[in-house]
Amino acid sequence: MTAHAELETAVAALKNGAYDYIRKPFSFDILFLTIRNALEKRSMECQLRNYQANLETKVKEQTGLINSMYLRSIHSLIKALEAKDRYTRGHSQRVTLYSMAIATHLDLPPEHLEDLRYAAVLHDLGKIGVRETILNKPGSLTSEEFLEVVRHPEVATRILSPIPLFRDILPAILHHHERFDGKGYPGRIAGKEIPLHSRIMAIADTYDAMTSTRAYRPALSEEEASAEILRCAGTQFDPEVVSVFLSVKDKLDGNGDLLPLEWRGEEESPDGDGLSVP
Ligand SMILES: [Fe+2]
Repeated sequence: MTAHAELETAVAALKNGAYDYIRKPFSFDILFLTIRNALEKRSMECQLRNYQANLETKVKEQTGLINSMYLRSIHSLIKALEAKDRYTRGHSQRVTLYSMAIATHLDLPPEHLEDLRYAAVLHDLGKIGVRETILNKPGSLTSEEFLEVVRHPEVATRILSPIPLFRDILPAILHHHERFDGKGYPGRIAGKEIPLHSRIMAIADTYDAMTSTRAYRPALSEEEASAEILRCAGTQFDPEVVSVFLSVKDKLDGNGDLLPLEWRGEEESPDGDGLSVP
């Protein structure tokens, strides 16, 4: 309310946040109307702010719900795969632990560690699409059977691609069988073109496969497996990651413990498969 009637004064007042501009002498009716309108406007602004805040909470809740539904479906697929291939469960867990140990020594940021953990847990999920007789076959595979097995990174990627939560880990899973010299699959990409998480998992995966008894051969000793990993540095594996792995592995083997507790996932699912609802 002012006795100044100039237009510039009115504009300046409104710019400074005034709701309206009443000149003296004023009528009580106009003053009452102006105050009522201002209060209504204020109330609507508060309602809008509350609505936006609630909307964000609701969207977060719904996203959490959708993610947990997806994770439950993936749990079921993991269970189905474990039923088909008894070797998978322990293998995925050990690949996760070895991969996390390497990544920790590479000083990867926490969000990368979390992505790597999911990728390692799920890296072989695509084997759900491989026949059980092939997964557990004692002898060597025919070329047709081999082609079925090598599809598993792409199958896993197709299964996981609709899930927003896993979008960032798809390249790591897709390329976990690439070789540093470009002779792997499915992309035949080489060197640093291969995602770092895939280069880490490739070593963890191969080391664990070699030190485990499989349907078609007995386990190698840890020394033999380490020597093989070292022999393949620069051809099959990233030599820098190999040297980190070998230094980590020596520490792990010290007193028979696989890994220190802090390298394990903190929010494991009740099933212990390494998946957790964020
Ligand atoms: Fe694999």
